[in-house]
Amino acid sequence: MSPTPTREDRFTFGLWTIGWPANDPFGSATRAPLDAVEAIHKLSELGAYGMTFHDDDLFPFGCSEAERREAIDALKKACEETGMTIPMITTNTFSHPVFKDGGVTSNDRAVRRFTLRKILRNIDLAAELGATTFVMWGGREGAEYDFSKDVRVALERYREAANIFGQYVIDQGYDIKFAIEPKPNEPRGDILLPTVGHALGFIETLDHPELVGLNPEVGHEQMAGLNFTAGIAQALDAGKLFHIDLNGQRGIKYDQDLVFGHGDLINAFSLVDLLENGGPDGGECYSGPRHFDYKPSRTEDIDGVWESARANMRMYLLLKERAAAFRADPEVQEAIAATKQAELAQSTLAEGESVADLKADSSTFEDFDAEAYFDGNGFGYVRLQQLAVEHLMGARG
Ligand code: GCO
Ligand code: MN
Ligand code: MN
Repeated sequence: MSPTPTREDRFTFGLWTIGWPANDPFGSATRAPLDAVEAIHKLSELGAYGMTFHDDDLFPFGCSEAERREAIDALKKACEETGMTIPMITTNTFSHPVFKDGGVTSNDRAVRRFTLRKILRNIDLAAELGATTFVMWGGREGAEYDFSKDVRVALERYREAANIFGQYVIDQGYDIKFAIEPKPNEPRGDILLPTVGHALGFIETLDHPELVGLNPEVGHEQMAGLNFTAGIAQALDAGKLFHIDLNGQRGIKYDQDLVFGHGDLINAFSLVDLLENGGPDGGECYSGPRHFDYKPSRTEDIDGVWESARANMRMYLLLKERAAAFRADPEVQEAIAATKQAELAQSTLAEGESVADLKADSSTFEDFDAEAYFDGNGFGYVRLQQLAVEHLMGARG
């Protein structure tokens, strides 16, 4: 079986992913830059649905308005020719030296004011291109040293900026929502809003929390040793999964940006199962773009770049197929039932039952046999996990 991506799969790629020339802190580029128009045509050919970009991926930082316009118009034309979309754009507030202490949270007020202008200009561009999601990844918003800044004050500035952007889209009547992308570290020693949980807490302090959600990235949560699927479940629970960055990561180390599924494959499997089958009716519970934010390895030439782009989409589709087979397997259904997941879906107190009723019910405490859980009453999770891994391996159905 060879799954072929189609537009309906809503696969998108950052221009900075396939276009990464593979320079790293230890060495220079190993590939030539990739033209945005060529990227659109090639991605379209491969079955992708759209492309995303940072302002500076499309036109160089500080270029003239004419140069900027030329790049935007060329991109628009390529989209018209191919039917490709730009569902998300984002702002580069990290590459230029001006951002060395961050953008919206730099201690330098002039830098902060410049950053507001750069982002506001890019919000206008998002509206022009019909992008409805605006990602905010604050990679330089942070510090290396605990005495550099008062984190509470820095968060106050972060909040000020997010409120300004929220009010701006309201005033302009733009159909745009913001998605904060957490990351624990790199390039800063410690980044503000380091995980899904931190960002969820922050969003609730904003003037317009309804306009702001998350763009969680697989590797970023895993860099913090966290379970990505569990983080996504909590983001869904909060109604905040506005976008997603799919890639692969092997453990707690630098941001590897491997192909999706080339890191923790079992977690990638549970993630796809959640996204595709976690809805109330067993259908999908996230309908936004499946966005790949990976880096084609430095060892690859341009053929390897496109091979790796294909690999991301194939991995997703293969995992989706496996997840469907997993859910359809009667033995899996029986194993799920044995884990008492249906009981977890029941409220702990019965409808209309009060705490007084609970206290009066001696079966819940005085007569409850807690000892039965020693050497008995197992939950059967290992059996279910084994079935999942066997499906993942193609060893069943
Ligand atoms: C990273 C981030 C970025 C962001 C991008 C969008 O670790 O470098 O994942 O790739 O996703 O900057 O704003
Ligand atoms: Mn990343
Ligand atoms: Mn990302």
